[in-house]
Amino acid sequence: MSQGIPEETIDEIRQHTDLVALVGEYLKLERRGKNMVGLCPFHNEKTPSFTVSPEKQLYHCFGCGASGNVFSLIMQMEKLTFPEAAKFLARRAGVKIPEQQAARPERDQLKENIYKLNLMAARYYAYHLSKTASGKKALDYLLKRGITEKTIELFMLGYAPAEWTGFFNFAKKKGATPDLMVKAGLVSPGREKGYYDRFRSRIIFPIFNINGKVTGFGGRAFDDEKNSGPKYLNSPETAVFSKGNMLYGLNFARGEIRKSKKAVVMEGYTDVISAYQAGIKNVVASLGTALTTEQSKLLRNQSDIVITAYDSDSAGEAATWRGLVVLQSTGCLVHVAELPQGSDPDSLIREKGADLFKSLLENAVPLIEYRLQRLKERYDLNTDNGRVKYIEELMPFLVAAVNQVEQDYYLKKAAEELGVEEAALRNELKKQIRRGSKYRGERKKDSSDEVETIAISPAEKILISLMLQSKEIAEQGRNDIKPDYIKGSPVKIIFDEIWNLYDSGGVVTAEKLLNRFEDDNLVRLVSMVVTDPALQDLQPRVAKRMAEDSIEYLRRLWSARQQRELKKKIKELEDRGLNDEIENLLREHQDLLTNKDGSPYRSGKGGDFNG
Ligand code: UTP
Ligand code: MN
Repeated sequence: MSQGIPEETIDEIRQHTDLVALVGEYLKLERRGKNMVGLCPFHNEKTPSFTVSPEKQLYHCFGCGASGNVFSLIMQMEKLTFPEAAKFLARRAGVKIPEQQAARPERDQLKENIYKLNLMAARYYAYHLSKTASGKKALDYLLKRGITEKTIELFMLGYAPAEWTGFFNFAKKKGATPDLMVKAGLVSPGREKGYYDRFRSRIIFPIFNINGKVTGFGGRAFDDEKNSGPKYLNSPETAVFSKGNMLYGLNFARGEIRKSKKAVVMEGYTDVISAYQAGIKNVVASLGTALTTEQSKLLRNQSDIVITAYDSDSAGEAATWRGLVVLQSTGCLVHVAELPQGSDPDSLIREKGADLFKSLLENAVPLIEYRLQRLKERYDLNTDNGRVKYIEELMPFLVAAVNQVEQDYYLKKAAEELGVEEAALRNELKKQIRRGSKYRGERKKDSSDEVETIAISPAEKILISLMLQSKEIAEQGRNDIKPDYIKGSPVKIIFDEIWNLYDSGGVVTAEKLLNRFEDDNLVRLVSMVVTDPALQDLQPRVAKRMAEDSIEYLRRLWSARQQRELKKKIKELEDRGLNDEIENLLREHQDLLTNKDGSPYRSGKGGDFNG
């Protein structure tokens, strides 16, 4: 694990790092007996269950189960590997890590060397942009585009002079070998002899990894006379650079994304830079390609909601859609911001101001909703062909839904749109899921197809988990879930115990809840639900929406049951010719369905489930 860092050094770092002080840099701690407690940084909570033992130098969260020592804390907080975390803490504690060059595998050595050369190159380009006559044209171009000197410095923007061997000669003088320069993708071997610079007469955008190391470059042509070739030329794949694994700007955006739990994905370098400069700092770019699983995971690790703000002209392209489904399958809630025709975030911010752009972000709609809107525009649902296409192109999105409630909600909506039975559409969806949609990501979204001794609905699972995590949601549940909704369901016992736990005061945890059950099946069910990663660390707003949707789902199921029973009774009475009784019965039911138990949410929208 320690990868080249000697055990003694690890020990030394540990001895020189106080966990309480370290945790204190991230959150407020209060003394409670022997321990310190605070609000857990790893999940959302309102009452502190994150406990630090100064004596043991360990932490444990009774809410989410996170636990560990100084190293694991930094690994999780800063998203670092163990050696990176050790280095981070060593620097902080003033402990020196002995160089172990010899012990390093060759590949690591190559990576280190490329990083060093890349940094040298970034500085070379930055110098040429700001300090040379030949860079003046490039600098003017950037300034005219509204990019300030401060921003240029932060993003380390540069200029590659219009020379064939400018960088090559510079790097050679500094001691870099041509071999390394080629491996870093900065120069190419000439056809007959010698080497030439890859980037010439271009504005240079260094691309950083999440830790701020320069992994590669993008070079933008800006001077039509001097340039042929693509508008943007990127580094080739190297030992440290792979376009599909990177998100431009993530190193700058990381803090803000983590704080807001929201990330905005754009297409280009200039979009990110403009937005960042305008104070919208949770922004990254996918570098012009459809989002990959790797990129999606980077985002999933940092945020709950991902808002995409793509150029309006590319937003409808198949590759873009595929990327969004990948993103959603990884477990992000994806919202789509719609940009006016012909604009991108950069041009919008420059021409219309950051506030307008911010409001577009705020009005972003959930991915499936957005997809439904687009498909409805595109296809004529009065024709068979249009309907077939509509269903075909909607399915991958339903398969990738974040949870069952969302899936059901949009399935119903689509069925309404098409005027077909929901059941028919559901069958089609099941087929797709069995076949394994080609867009399907790795994440398992729910375990409804796993063996389970107690069958409960996904909505019930969601409510168990969320009510445990939030007192507010538990209270809402107690108010809005009528006993009839869950009559006869095993969840009634679980819900009741959760509410009892809150009544008895103190911190409510999954552990405490489990202690209240003896039935193995119940224990297994609850353990499974509370450890479902899809239901952890949700943003309060998202959790609230999910809880409300779930309650609404239970209400609709109940209402459908009522109506089925009603029909049955009416049929019986009809058969016996008791028409007066039928009228009474109907009146009674009308009261039940509208007055006392009318839907608290989405009132007026949509009907109830039928069968
Ligand atoms: P755009 O053509 O939309 O560029 O490509 P842009 O970011 O708006 O740049 P400006 O405003 O014209 O200066 C979007 C992104 O696609 C990638 C780049 O990452 C670019 O930022 N791209 C585009 C390439 O990699 N190569 C290309 O030839 C074009
Ligand atoms: Mn642009």
